[in-house]
Amino acid sequence: MNVSKFGKKIAVQSGIGQLMDDLGAARGQEHDVLMLGGGNPAHIPEVDRCLRQSMAAMLADGSRFERAIGSYDPPEGNAEFTEAVASLLRDRFGWDIGPQNIALTNGSQLAFFILFNLLAGEYEDGTKRRILFPLVPEYIGYCDVGLTCDLFATQRPKIESIDEHTFKYHIDFDRLDIAEDIGAICVSRPTNPSGNVLTNSELERLSGLARARGVPLIIDNAYGTPFPNIVFTDAEPLWNENTIVCMSLSKLGLPGVRTGIVIARREIIELVARVNAVMSLAPGGVGPALLMDLVRSGRIIDLCREVIQPFYQRKMQQVVKHIHACFKGIDYRVHKPEGAFFMWLWFPNLPITSQQLYERLKQRHVLVVPGHYFFPGLTEPWPHTNECIRVNYAQDHKVVSAGIKTIAEEVKRAYAAC
Ligand SMILES: Cc1ncc(COP(=O)(O)O)c(C=O)c1O
Repeated sequence: MNVSKFGKKIAVQSGIGQLMDDLGAARGQEHDVLMLGGGNPAHIPEVDRCLRQSMAAMLADGSRFERAIGSYDPPEGNAEFTEAVASLLRDRFGWDIGPQNIALTNGSQLAFFILFNLLAGEYEDGTKRRILFPLVPEYIGYCDVGLTCDLFATQRPKIESIDEHTFKYHIDFDRLDIAEDIGAICVSRPTNPSGNVLTNSELERLSGLARARGVPLIIDNAYGTPFPNIVFTDAEPLWNENTIVCMSLSKLGLPGVRTGIVIARREIIELVARVNAVMSLAPGGVGPALLMDLVRSGRIIDLCREVIQPFYQRKMQQVVKHIHACFKGIDYRVHKPEGAFFMWLWFPNLPITSQQLYERLKQRHVLVVPGHYFFPGLTEPWPHTNECIRVNYAQDHKVVSAGIKTIAEEVKRAYAAC
């Protein structure tokens, strides 16, 4: 079918499209497919129970359920919820914000579509601006959201070798070029796919550079603190008038309700709300209604600190052990897992590409995500992009360990064949 340039740009097969197709196809076949791709969070019994109770309380109330589903919220989202989120962040971190600094979106993915296309692309004076990712690998979901081509800029990271099998990416500040055409800087923290957490000083330095250049710093806090708080290092959150923090309810166990939260200065929030009105009239009301009491009471923080964070930290330690046992005898590296729920595996000089490895694993019913999708904006050739894969370890340990065993077998076979 002949579609517009917009259609070609957005609706042709994209990295995120492949990922979501694989996820969809694997749904219902969990017995046959080891699903280590995608970004689904775990089903943590205590969290599921808590969400079920919230829903039961909403249904038991005389009018809350009807209000949540029966009326449109304003385009910036449910006012009681944005007030509750603002109070929580004010009380917890001392951020100088109110509800006027918050807009909800139907998933934070949509927030990135809105923000990137507001802050970069073609301007009325004929100039073009781009979004700078100071550190790659970076979230696959950013790659295809641009309405115009060449929306992204990036550079190679520095690689710190921590021990024989562990490494960590750092922003290469010596080479960081915030060119004239940069409209905003964006980082995910914790980073999807690597599980990296930018250090407090890296973030402060980035914030200073962004402010000096007069461009906003977007911090994607989908896995960050205070919720869902899947962070295993000491990472202070950051907000100031020049920062846009994007949060999400997905990774604490609610990807189905599609609720993203944008925290920014008022003029940016007003723009996001206007785009919301055009694209979807209003953000959905179910996610906010479901979490209202947990946010208002602050119990969300305890749930994340006492249940969600330790759950993933335990899983992470278990998986790392298993990786070291399975990959013994070959050259493999694991990115230091500091947050989120992904293992980022690097096989130096892998004789096949990460895409070929992905295909071979798919044949054996193991789904991962090939690494080359995670380098939006990188134009210089770099073999490293084809030597990595991302493994989601949120699923049941039996599934994750069986998948890792198969990955190790395939990688060993690839090395042995050359
Ligand atoms: C880093 C990061 N940002 C944003 C998103 C989008 O999440 P959602 O649209 O479910 O809020 C994801 C989802 O996997 C993610 O990993």
